[in-house]
Amino acid sequence: MTQVDVLLGLQWGDEGKGKIVDVLSPQYDLIARFQGGPNAGHTLEFDGKKFVLNTIPSGIFNEKTMNLIGNGVVIDPIILKRELDNLKTAGHDPVAKGKLVIARKAHLILPTHQLLDAANEQKMGKDKIGSTLKGIGPTYMDKTGRNGLRVGDTTLPDFKERYNRLVEKHKEILSHYEFEYDLTEKEAAFFEAIEFIKNIPHVDSEHYVNGFLKEGKTVLAEGAQGTLLDVDFGSYPFVTSSNTTTAGACTGLGIAPNKVGHVYGIFKAYCTRVGGGPFPTELDDEVGETLRKVGHEFGATTGRARRCGWIDLPALKYAIMLNGVTELIMMKADVLDGFDTIYACTHYEHNGETIDYMPYDIITVKPTPVLKEIQGWKTDVTKITKNDEIPAKLAEYIAFLEQELDVPVKYLSVGPDRTQTLILD
Ligand code: GDP
Ligand code: IMO
Ligand code: MG
Repeated sequence: MTQVDVLLGLQWGDEGKGKIVDVLSPQYDLIARFQGGPNAGHTLEFDGKKFVLNTIPSGIFNEKTMNLIGNGVVIDPIILKRELDNLKTAGHDPVAKGKLVIARKAHLILPTHQLLDAANEQKMGKDKIGSTLKGIGPTYMDKTGRNGLRVGDTTLPDFKERYNRLVEKHKEILSHYEFEYDLTEKEAAFFEAIEFIKNIPHVDSEHYVNGFLKEGKTVLAEGAQGTLLDVDFGSYPFVTSSNTTTAGACTGLGIAPNKVGHVYGIFKAYCTRVGGGPFPTELDDEVGETLRKVGHEFGATTGRARRCGWIDLPALKYAIMLNGVTELIMMKADVLDGFDTIYACTHYEHNGETIDYMPYDIITVKPTPVLKEIQGWKTDVTKITKNDEIPAKLAEYIAFLEQELDVPVKYLSVGPDRTQTLILD
């Protein structure tokens, strides 16, 4: 029997998961998204074209790979329909080709979930989470509060009544906010999209994935967001509302922990964060601005400017421990090409102590990063295709990270295109 490999982000999201899942997808029979929703924006580039996927797994462009949206994902039918319409226009129709299935236990994001998200953020003012306003938090709240609607419910004869009952609850809550809204257009689009998603096969993801494993087929679980946004272990409350860690792949697909194989942890050669919350190595200066410009660090979903800073080793060590990472994938090395010197945070100074972990009070007391200076490689790496072309100083940076993190770096990404990827020995 085969096992499920897992690929997930080790920082605050946007590490380049979409690109690497696309690169790895020819090795897999199934790519399965296990949590999050359209708060995700996963970018893929190949043949001079660029695609951003929000809900659809990033294996969709590989001819032989099946794609599953797992039970742990929250689905906005309007956004899923739009994604599929856009793909069809671009000449890719995974529904017609039978390459996409959805878990019937996945929860639905209603238009009123988005209103609740927006009303809540508006009320919090300067203390807001900086959510993507896609209704993620309120949908997971209804899931754990046992109120939610699931994909499988859409085929029940009383779906509309169930929908109305939940919307009434939401309207009651919204009446406590000073928040104006008009649902008419969104509701019409929602029900149109519900009819559309009925055409995508609904499956029990637990049986579907385990069936692949029994047949000896290969499965890759695709994470969304990043470990430091995990609802339990991230910088709470500045987190998303799902478990973004390896454990989330078990609950979000229905696989037992002993069915997990390789765990690929993906990180940028530096670090970014979008939205509010602590970010110890953030560079609020022209160096941060350079990283943002060179790295095109603007949200794939929201277009928001991403906060930028140096790589944070205490945070990465924490993420590696939580996920059981077996191989690392380093992204966006090319963004550092022009720097004379780069820096890596090895420790924090915190409350008069030197520590190498993320402290509980990180929300209230900002740790001061202890930085190690590293010489830059000052070489354009975007066109290198062979390992012996990797500049010595970049190879030294990778060796330093492997030693600090005690996990090998297996892949190195030197540009956004599929082809700009090296497998390290
Ligand atoms: P995801 O959410 O983890 O899939 O990542 P995003 O797609 O939100 O953000 C990653 C961004 O970096 C996208 O614009 C990618 O096209 C781009 N990208 C991925 N890998 C590389 C790389 O190695 N170098 C550069 N310069 N860009 C990259
Ligand atoms: P991908 O999969 C980066 C952040 C938001 C906000 C917090 C909560 O593309 O890496 P939410 O809408 O989930 O309630 O927002 O989480 N966030 C992300 N940041 N990449 C993402 O996804 C994110 N999804 C959510 O900015 O700070
Ligand atoms: Mg993203």
